[in-house]
Amino acid sequence: MPQQIDGSVCGESMAHPKVDKSGERVRGMFAEIAPRYDFANRTLSGGIDVLWRRFTVRTAPPPASGAMLDLCTGTGDLAISYALNAGPGVRVVGADFCQPMLDHAVVKSRRKGLPVEWVEADAMALPFPAASFDLVTVAFGLRNIADTRQGLAEMARVTRPGGRLAILEFSLPSNPVVRASYLWYFRNVLPRLGNGLAANGSDAYRYLNESVEEFPSGERLASIVREAGYESLAMHPLTFGIATLTIAHRCGDAAAVSQEG
Ligand SMILES: C[S@@+](CC[C@H](N)C(=O)[O-])C[C@H]1O[C@@H](n2cnc3c(N)ncnc32)[C@H](O)[C@@H]1O
Repeated sequence: MPQQIDGSVCGESMAHPKVDKSGERVRGMFAEIAPRYDFANRTLSGGIDVLWRRFTVRTAPPPASGAMLDLCTGTGDLAISYALNAGPGVRVVGADFCQPMLDHAVVKSRRKGLPVEWVEADAMALPFPAASFDLVTVAFGLRNIADTRQGLAEMARVTRPGGRLAILEFSLPSNPVVRASYLWYFRNVLPRLGNGLAANGSDAYRYLNESVEEFPSGERLASIVREAGYESLAMHPLTFGIATLTIAHRCGDAAAVSQEG
């Protein structure tokens, strides 16, 4: 059941993150794990991440026409799922600031014969005109953007009024017993397992649990999304709440804009 979310005050942890999310660090970390990113994802999640992306495409379907953007697209799994489900003539763009991740996306979309446009770009300074996308998606990426508000402001700028934003992100279970067991696994097992699977020396999977624990979720995230210029939020907790799909609509009247334009 999706939860309709009311506005609330956002927490301090996002304004002054303790985890180092500088572009240099994040880009370097993903460049290092790029060759084994998909393998590590599938293994650590037991394949559930594939189901979460499928749910995202079903719940926030591609636009019937126009264009959509998958930000922080990484190796392109979500953009590719959208391209497979989009009608002819819908432009699907995947953007990321880590070229080694995008290199894998390029190979995967070519293999499937999908015309996804891959663009190397920073989510905090997007090279697209205002209101150019009917749908903007970001999966497991918003948490990694150094300045969450700046990233959301850019997403709002490029979403056309009335268009949609879909954020798929890790969250923490609300049930205290499930949450305690999950946090134990998340802090003690996942970093070792992940760093091993991804043959990673930069502790990317320690960063994963630290960044998830620090990142706002629920009403705090809803408030930040609303401040950026979105409304009508719905949040869908997935798999005991270890991930959440948030869907919102860009404020403004699409009909008025198209009449002006
Ligand atoms: C955990 S991966 C998620 C990849 C993909 N969306 C998925 O579902 O598997 C996070 C991605 O966000 C990208 N990223 C982080 N900060 C970014 C920024 N400021 N601009 C563009 N991409 C960014 C990283 O390079 C990485 O590819």
